[in-house]
Amino acid sequence: MAYAAFRSIGAYVPNKILTNEDLSKMVDTTDEWITKRTGIKERHIAAEDETTSDLGVKAAKLAIERSGVEANEIDMVICATISPDYFCMPSTATIISTKLGLGNATAFDISAACTGFVYILSIAKAFIESGMKKNILIIGAEKLSAITDYTDRGTCILFGDGAGAAVISATENKEEGIIDVHTGADGTYADLLMTPNGGTGSPHDSLEQEAGACYMQMKGNETFKVAVRTLTKDVVEILADNNIQSDQIDHFIPHQANYRIIKAVGDALKMKEEQVVLTVAKYGNTSGASIPMAINDMYEQGKLKSGELMLLDAFGGGLTWGSALVPFSPLSKV
Ligand code: ACO
Repeated sequence: MAYAAFRSIGAYVPNKILTNEDLSKMVDTTDEWITKRTGIKERHIAAEDETTSDLGVKAAKLAIERSGVEANEIDMVICATISPDYFCMPSTATIISTKLGLGNATAFDISAACTGFVYILSIAKAFIESGMKKNILIIGAEKLSAITDYTDRGTCILFGDGAGAAVISATENKEEGIIDVHTGADGTYADLLMTPNGGTGSPHDSLEQEAGACYMQMKGNETFKVAVRTLTKDVVEILADNNIQSDQIDHFIPHQANYRIIKAVGDALKMKEEQVVLTVAKYGNTSGASIPMAINDMYEQGKLKSGELMLLDAFGGGLTWGSALVPFSPLSKV
């Protein structure tokens, strides 16, 4: 039986920083309000000519280098994004794969908003455990600044750009394998978080009126309540299913949407402060990229060691949610 090992992590954050102070000159808001309600201080914004695939390529290069897997051994590339280079085709994963010279590896995108990375982790796990693939590159990459309405203070304060990537490889050692991944979705809450224009669900005349407008819209307060409820329930279930207690988790890495959501979920799960990984202050919400970017921060700060157990937990538009129990299993021990 093959197991799916989380071998490596990489991330890329664009240089340009957009601070709360900057935003207070663009919309009716203040640093104090944003900090108190979200915990966010700044976010990074990609250059105008930098695409989502450009961000993804930089993160993926690092992940491949650190994995010990040769580029020509990667047999699948999956990208989670809601801000793809092109809305219909080609997929961002295909572009990333080609820019990296990965030959004819299978490549496709998935759309699960902020839960995207947990979804692609579950897909990679399934392909590897079935024996169909051996080395899968998974990428969460977002240029959310391209689909953010910078006149809407309810959303523009939240989002940032960035990418994170990981290599998941087959192993015969069960101890190294991803323990479990849970994913779910409920379309009855679809209107809480939407980009209403740009697809077949939007009438053509409204598309013409709002030429190219494909911005995120969110009912923030309702989303907040569902997020806390769903994230907590999901983690309780995955821990119980696997007979793992919260004090056995080395690193709890929730999707970085809002410090108050993370705090409420962490408290409900009785997580100690040192278990909870926080990057929301410096990156804001980078949707499908937020979890791998947070893992990479820990790795680069020397805080993530071989064999340590990570608990991932995410929630996003759709609505979608997911959680995962993942030992860090690099080929060369750190
Ligand atoms: N600056 C100042 N005031 C503001 C701002 C702002 N940037 N934004 C809203 N307000 C005002 C509102 O107009 C409202 O004013 P009123 O009371 O006069 O009507 C007041 O602040 C309170 O607004 P709420 O929306 O109730 O504020 P809340 O405390 O809920 O915070 C926030 C808003 C930060 C958006 C929060 O609801 C949130 O984080 N929601 C969840 C986001 C999330 O997790 N999304 C899921 C993932 S995203 C994805 O999938 C892509």
